[in-house]
Amino acid sequence: MVSTPRKRLAVLISGRGSNMESILKATQDSEYPAEICLVLSDNKNAMGLETARAANIETAAFERSEFDTRHDHELAVQDKINAQQADLICLAGYMRILSGDFTDAYEGRLINIHPSLLPKYKGLNTHQRALDAGENEHGCTVHHVNSEMDGGEIIAQARVAVLKEDTPDTLAARVLVEEHKLYPSVIAMLAKKM
Ligand code: GRF
Repeated sequence: MVSTPRKRLAVLISGRGSNMESILKATQDSEYPAEICLVLSDNKNAMGLETARAANIETAAFERSEFDTRHDHELAVQDKINAQQADLICLAGYMRILSGDFTDAYEGRLINIHPSLLPKYKGLNTHQRALDAGENEHGCTVHHVNSEMDGGEIIAQARVAVLKEDTPDTLAARVLVEEHKLYPSVIAMLAKKM
């Protein structure tokens, strides 16, 4: 039987990397249609880089401060992604707003996970803001990325109920459980279609 080659994923992180880890775990199933070819960070100390190295995955770190301009920084990131021949670029807690040049270069192949039910609560502090607004449900979204922050086309969402006793931390923890299921499942769905 001839098997289809697995799609190659570049995962971009800035910190903890728990979503990257959930993708990594999914790829350990030989039936999963994708594999991680690169974990790249804008922060040399990102914990997720250690996790990736321990799993023998190619890593790279390019800090913005090492480059004169945002454009130069983005070009270095793009060169690395392209050198690894990534099919799909997955932002997973990558804390930079990307230029239109960058997002255009990967149109249809650049996705992000965001901890709210977009279009509600773009940006930061989503859990606190959902609680402050008295929402009775909250969740996470995987979406295509364009140059508008958290503004690209929605691919899939997962919902959680907001409980009376929730704090931003308890709510974030329940949403994160859903993120860790949603992101690998959306990636599998897209990889199969590529
Ligand atoms: C996640 O909540 C994700 O939705 C958001 O940033 C956080 C990253 O967490 N974009 P981690 O680094 O994947 O643990």
